[in-house]
Amino acid sequence: MAERINVNTRMGSSSYPISIEAGSIRMIGQIAERSASGSNVAIVSNAKVDGLYGATVTNAFRQAGLKPVTHLIGDGERFKNFKTLESTVKFLGENKISRTDLIVALGGGVVGDLAGFAAAIYLRGIRFIQIPTTLLAMIDSSVGGKTGINMDFGKNLVGAFYQPSAVVIDPNVLQTLPKREITAGFCEAVKQGALSGPKLLKQTEDALNNIGQFDRFLADQVRFKASIVAADERESAAKTDAKSRKILNFGHTFGHAIEKVTRYRRFKHGEAVGHGIIFAAELSKKLELLAEDEVKLLNDVVHRTGSLPPLHGIDPSEVFEAFKFDKKNIGKSLQWILLEGIGKPVVKPGSEIPDRILRDTIRAVISR
Ligand SMILES: NC(=O)c1ccc[n+]([C@@H]2O[C@H](COP(=O)([O-])OP(=O)(O)OC[C@H]3O[C@@H](n4cnc5c(N)ncnc54)[C@H](O)[C@@H]3O)[C@@H](O)[C@H]2O)c1
Ligand SMILES: [Zn+2]
Repeated sequence: MAERINVNTRMGSSSYPISIEAGSIRMIGQIAERSASGSNVAIVSNAKVDGLYGATVTNAFRQAGLKPVTHLIGDGERFKNFKTLESTVKFLGENKISRTDLIVALGGGVVGDLAGFAAAIYLRGIRFIQIPTTLLAMIDSSVGGKTGINMDFGKNLVGAFYQPSAVVIDPNVLQTLPKREITAGFCEAVKQGALSGPKLLKQTEDALNNIGQFDRFLADQVRFKASIVAADERESAAKTDAKSRKILNFGHTFGHAIEKVTRYRRFKHGEAVGHGIIFAAELSKKLELLAEDEVKLLNDVVHRTGSLPPLHGIDPSEVFEAFKFDKKNIGKSLQWILLEGIGKPVVKPGSEIPDRILRDTIRAVISR
């Protein structure tokens, strides 16, 4: 069963379609025709994804009478930088991609974030389509319009809010995705399930056990992300209610901290978020917000996503110090996303959480 979701963004073009359908990358030509009037399509991908799906996608464009050209970027987070952005916009210029043409991101979140940012700034913005090929990109990064690159002073610190014209999700491409990437994507899915409520969390558990409908699981995950984005597209600093975009940072303060102290080498981002969910649940319990059985449920679901690289050897005080780095990025006090129950997120100012409790929780989670 194909699923179609319309995302209303309240920005300029107001809404865009997200489709979830097995085999849909073969039909990308028709979707592109509806998205742009020009005949050129610039595909941005990397060698690995292009090797797997590039031919299918370019053939589909050719069959629709379009002229695809492909630009390959390096594989990995470290290529999500200014240099790659520059080479990408240069490629667009050299291939005379015009305002009526289209950019297509074919890959995971790295390709999507970078190609989306290139689309936002090239000729002051040209249309682009996301074809997310990782689980994380399907349920998270391709939806919501955050695009950007990493800088020496921090990740994702230069970018733009720029919505795609369409998102085309073909679940079949997950068949080639390495196990660790599936686990990482599922950790973000558990995060969204924990924030949304028991229904989405259960669906995520079922998807982990291969029961139930995977397309429906993807669709409901996307719907949840889209609903949060629609209510707070630009992540307003002042908004701190349960529907603010900030809540999507659940599990991320600890996640970012352990990524940083292990120099981004030990964990995939999603895996770090998996540990971060456990940490946030434990902290919520210590603050008497979350009941023991719900903490246990979250632990169980996170562990069922796969085996996460262990926390052994991480120095608790370095993690504590790294929390301050997250705080600096926000500009004022750190805001913790905690749970009062499954589906009941709360935004707590860091000033309300004693350092002693933070340190105790870090130690408890690391030494487990
Ligand atoms: N924009 C947002 O709102 C948002 C949200 C979350 C994460 N992100 C960003 O997303 C990025 C992480 O994305 P990711 O987890 O997709 O990582 P990724 O893009 O690095 O992809 C992971 C790996 O999987 C490979 N791959 C991709 N699709 C494949 C397939 N179908 N078969 C086999 N291999 C495949 C890639 O080549 C890569 O080696 C980070 O840069 C993060 O900052 C952005
Ligand atoms: Zn994340």
